[in-house]
Amino acid sequence: MSADEKCKIYVLTYSLYGHVNTLAAEIKTGIEEAGCEAVMVRCPETLPADILEKMHAPPKDESIPEVDVKDLVNADGILFGFPTRFGTLPTQMKSVLDATGGLWQSGGLVGKPAGVFISTATQGGGQETSALTFLTQLAHHGMMFVPIGYSSPLLFNNDEVHGGSPYGAGTLAGGDGSRMPSDLEKGVAKHQGSFFAGTCKALKAGRAASA
Ligand SMILES: Cc1cc2nc3c(=O)[nH]c(=O)nc-3n(C[C@H](O)[C@H](O)[C@H](O)COP(=O)(O)O)c2cc1C
Repeated sequence: MSADEKCKIYVLTYSLYGHVNTLAAEIKTGIEEAGCEAVMVRCPETLPADILEKMHAPPKDESIPEVDVKDLVNADGILFGFPTRFGTLPTQMKSVLDATGGLWQSGGLVGKPAGVFISTATQGGGQETSALTFLTQLAHHGMMFVPIGYSSPLLFNNDEVHGGSPYGAGTLAGGDGSRMPSDLEKGVAKHQGSFFAGTCKALKAGRAASA
């Protein structure tokens, strides 16, 4: 594969308090270390300003542009990162996906690899259900879910509390949001970036070879 065919991997996130953004930064490093380009984009906020204020939400990270769904067709793979809401994806991510009807109609995302990474407050709060319930979105677009399985030995660590699962990287924010991603969780996130990039590269090379 020549340099001008570098894989372009979109990392589409929603993060209210920054936990998902912290994981996304590690994922970006992993993608880049694997020789791919990471395109960082975020979901537009849907909550009104007065509610955000009551939730003590910090300002958005303006260094990450809002996603233009039409651009997703240019992705060689998409990683979706979000905080759980009652065990499933937040409205902000669903709103973006609900705006992909045109892409669905044209088959614009068919065959593209996809992965997820998740932030929950607690261990039983939705690390796995949030990923699992997200799969309907991918199935309807014909995307290929790329789980990480236990490809990182970090996931076998039972000596410390941590997020992350075979479905993807994850962190536990704590009930009051005060816990930030641990080194172990960041390690899994970086691994997911490289691992996912490897899959995207292999698929792209395979398509180029059979064209
Ligand atoms: C409306 C709402 C619902 C939530 N539901 C859950 C939940 O079901 N399980 C859980 O562990 N955390 C839940 N949380 C906590 C968030 O997942 C937590 O704030 C988030 O993981 C932090 O990530 P962020 O800093 O990237 O926004 C909820 C938070 C809100 C505001």
